[in-house]
Amino acid sequence: YHVPIAVNEPVLSYAPGTPERDELLSTYRKMKSQVMDIPMFINGKEVRTNDTHALYPPHELKTQIGTYHRGTKQHVQDAVDAALEAREKWANLSWEHRASIFLKAADLIAGPFRARINAATMLAQSKNAMQAEIDSACELADFLRFNVQYMTEIYDNQPESSDGVWNRLEYRPLEGFVFAITPFNFTAIAGNLPAAPALMGCVAVWKPADSQIYSANVVMEVFREAGVPAGVINLVFADGPDAGDVVFNHPEFAGLHFTGSTNVFRHLWQTIGENISKYKSYPRIVGETGGKDFIVAHPSSNVQEVAVAIARGAFEFQGQKCSAASRAYLPSNIASDILDRAVAIVKDFKMGSPENFENFITAVIDERAFDKIAGYIDFIKEQDDAEILVGGNYDKSEGYFIEPTIVKTSNPMFRTMCEEIFGPVITIYEYPENEWSETLKLVNATGEYALTGAIFSQDRYAIEEATKALENAAGNFYINDKPTGAVVGQQPFGGARGSGTNDKAGSYLNLLRWVSPRTIKETF
Ligand code: NAD
Ligand code: ALA
Repeated sequence: YHVPIAVNEPVLSYAPGTPERDELLSTYRKMKSQVMDIPMFINGKEVRTNDTHALYPPHELKTQIGTYHRGTKQHVQDAVDAALEAREKWANLSWEHRASIFLKAADLIAGPFRARINAATMLAQSKNAMQAEIDSACELADFLRFNVQYMTEIYDNQPESSDGVWNRLEYRPLEGFVFAITPFNFTAIAGNLPAAPALMGCVAVWKPADSQIYSANVVMEVFREAGVPAGVINLVFADGPDAGDVVFNHPEFAGLHFTGSTNVFRHLWQTIGENISKYKSYPRIVGETGGKDFIVAHPSSNVQEVAVAIARGAFEFQGQKCSAASRAYLPSNIASDILDRAVAIVKDFKMGSPENFENFITAVIDERAFDKIAGYIDFIKEQDDAEILVGGNYDKSEGYFIEPTIVKTSNPMFRTMCEEIFGPVITIYEYPENEWSETLKLVNATGEYALTGAIFSQDRYAIEEATKALENAAGNFYINDKPTGAVVGQQPFGGARGSGTNDKAGSYLNLLRWVSPRTIKETF
């Protein structure tokens, strides 16, 4: 199969004086000055209701930027009906035409929609410009382009034949519809969750997190302009349990493509299990969920590299990345040096609105997240076995701002060494420098997650030992680099244990979940 070779979309610099910076800033300001009316999009039509809700930037709570129209169970039912009606034509459309639509979508994202997608992510999710560029525009374009390439590689994978017999594998789309549920924190994940099954010929109902609706709407604009036919991807804004009630009771529910928290995913899986006898097929269940991602430094590691990894790995996007480093294990011979450097880097971070491109730290997503993170910080302040080295203040008068906070504890099982906080807090444990092997066992045994992790060492034997000892502790394992920033086509992304089904977003492994292959044997 011949398709354009996928290459990663180059990341623009947004340096002062560049045209991309001017365009992004003016798009941001223009969007901020308007109140975007955001309908659902069902069966190729915009759907408005009387149940409207206002949207505000997390960093600027007095400025309304959008109003969205919330649906009822009936709207979710309409979306399911539309998807099922569209299914036959879409599933039988030849793959080149599906590919063309998503390749065009990628070009729109990288081109005319780039500033709009980035500005929407900056406004609604409070990502700074660089993070929006990397996590939204580039990553979404990459998902769409690489998925086309992976799709053809899957189709190329055919069984052996022999004289008089031709064996074929036909990679049929799932029979039924896929439910895509997306989290607030990545616009690229939002677009990919309905798009990956749709590329493989499935139809989808897509429900984004409320705090992602503003940018999800821009992604839907792209899908519409790229020519995704009516009913193939239906965007609904509904209460999660209401939507689940319709979808998980439907006989043609064929797959769940979820990214979000571990608890919600477990609840959904349980609901699907309880309804299993209602379904025509066993549904595919794909979920990428929580994390408690680690950094472990060996006594031989480069102190500056570890310090930078702590500061960037823990605090990019205020730590609201499933991959964000939130616990670190530093050896006693270099711990103070690393921490002094990390604290110095963090003190240099500027905090404020993403409209000012100098601000590295912006706001956390909403009041619920703010209160939860502030609650953890208050808890830490009351404990005798932990101290805050930098940060620890928070303020929600203008926006949901929390200082990047480094905590040091003498207890390797301290609460914030184990629980996912999903905010700008990292906890450090200093281990005796001669206890490397014991520390690796501790890292492996701490917490319920296995998403990302990083080890730092200049000693090849130590690297080998850690790679083996932590083989089940992280689906994405980094040697001498921070545990964030996986790039599509380079580091397929996903975790095990409580972190997900590990179907690796941005890889053929994920796409395989959206096909129900038929084996054909023809005898001549
Ligand atoms: P969340 O679980 O609160 O919400 C995720 C989605 O589930 C939202 O759309 C929400 O409305 C929906 N939802 C909630 N309850 C539901 C129900 N009963 N029925 C149907 N839908 C329901 O997560 P969030 O706060 O949006 O995102 C943060 C979480 O996502 C963190 O735990 C983070 O680790 C995880 N995450 C994981 C990855 C990964 O790749 N592993 C990537 C990004 C985020
Ligand atoms: N792709 C994102 C990262 O690795 C989740 O940080």
